[in-house]
Amino acid sequence: MSTETTNAALFERAQAVIPGGVNSPVRAFRAVGGTPRFIRSAQGAYMVDAEGQRYIDYIGSWGPMILGHGHPAVLEAVQRAATEGFSFGAPTEREIELVEAIIEQVPSVEQLRLVSSGTEAAMSAIRLARGATGRSLLIKFEGCYHGHADALLVKAGSGLATFGHPTSAGVPAEVVQHTMVLEYNNVEQLEEAFALQGAEIACVMVEPIAGNMNFVRSSVPFMTRLRELCTRHGALLVLDEVMSGFRVALGSAQSLYAKLIPGFKPDVSVFGKVIGGGMPLAAFGASRAVMQHLAPLGPVYQAGTLSGNPVATACGLATLREIAKPGFFDALAAKTKRLVDGLETVAREEGVPLVGDCEGGMFGFFFAESLPQNYKTVMAGGTERFNRFFHAMLDRGVYLAPAMYEAGFVSAAHSDADIDATLEAARTALRA
Ligand SMILES: Cc1ncc(COP(=O)(O)O)c(C=O)c1O
Repeated sequence: MSTETTNAALFERAQAVIPGGVNSPVRAFRAVGGTPRFIRSAQGAYMVDAEGQRYIDYIGSWGPMILGHGHPAVLEAVQRAATEGFSFGAPTEREIELVEAIIEQVPSVEQLRLVSSGTEAAMSAIRLARGATGRSLLIKFEGCYHGHADALLVKAGSGLATFGHPTSAGVPAEVVQHTMVLEYNNVEQLEEAFALQGAEIACVMVEPIAGNMNFVRSSVPFMTRLRELCTRHGALLVLDEVMSGFRVALGSAQSLYAKLIPGFKPDVSVFGKVIGGGMPLAAFGASRAVMQHLAPLGPVYQAGTLSGNPVATACGLATLREIAKPGFFDALAAKTKRLVDGLETVAREEGVPLVGDCEGGMFGFFFAESLPQNYKTVMAGGTERFNRFFHAMLDRGVYLAPAMYEAGFVSAAHSDADIDATLEAARTALRA
């Protein structure tokens, strides 16, 4: 039993037995420096650390906690499911219910397979796209993150005709030779890539609203051209909605682009985070024709001991039922916009250049004059300023994502008073 009560002591103890003291690198605060907060509990919009310090939570477990922590309906569903059994390794009715609830909101998906993490879902979606097309080449975009599967840990080569380079040790160069990395929102590069290798492209994977380079939307001309090129060349368009799915809108980001681009829909969709409500659950789905390639029906192998776990599906289902209630997203979006508009106003009054953007319950802000359109411009500057701001906010009880290149999340549990308190903290923090 632990007697330690400080974050620093826990961090030291953790580092002795867990690499870097954390089970996912960004939690280590390496980008911003300082000691990670070890969370003891969370309720509603707040997290409490090992020292009893309370924070207004703007990471929401990096997206899933759209209802806030410990929502009564979700808690009740999870507790009931747990008493019925943790895991069976056999199908359950609840898996069908969850899949039906997801499909109901996302018309591009006719069938879905449940898995346990976004990484697993994205990796499986690529295997499916390659199996369905009989092609190998995969296109992704700099600054988009799709989990840590080998083929996806790649940065761009020196030109379109050169191979990308692995971004992690342990990934052989040969494993990424079928991955091409392009600049986000760059239509010209996209056209060039398809002109060069269109017949070899199995799929293009993209975050429609990127949340792994802060918050950057794909432009409508970019998404329009991407859809046209994939269709013309027989490549599958894979939207990675692990972060944006059921977070920016009930119909996910694809519903927003479908309003702007006539007939728009992806071929394959990848989900995670919100659909599990904070439990390990993710999914990938497509038309019935594409999904028929998956085992046991087809030759593309994919499986999982804990896939469709009964407690996780109960959590996801209860979460989806809450967010599907009338007016949920309008209220969440208004709250998020109030935060972002407020940050811009406070910064303007303090003479600090800051721009923000948001959609549904997801937001981003930059210490810049205008919204960046790609990874290079996101990373162009502002790190020092962000890190100072981050720590000043943390000291004032506001927990923002501990890195400049991460998006933020507002939940239904955040009150107007929480937003006001955040803006008040921001005014002082901007002077730091
Ligand atoms: C867009 C996107 N895809 C995939 C993943 C990987 O998901 P997971 O961390 O559940 O493996 C993430 C994680 O943040 C993500 O944001």
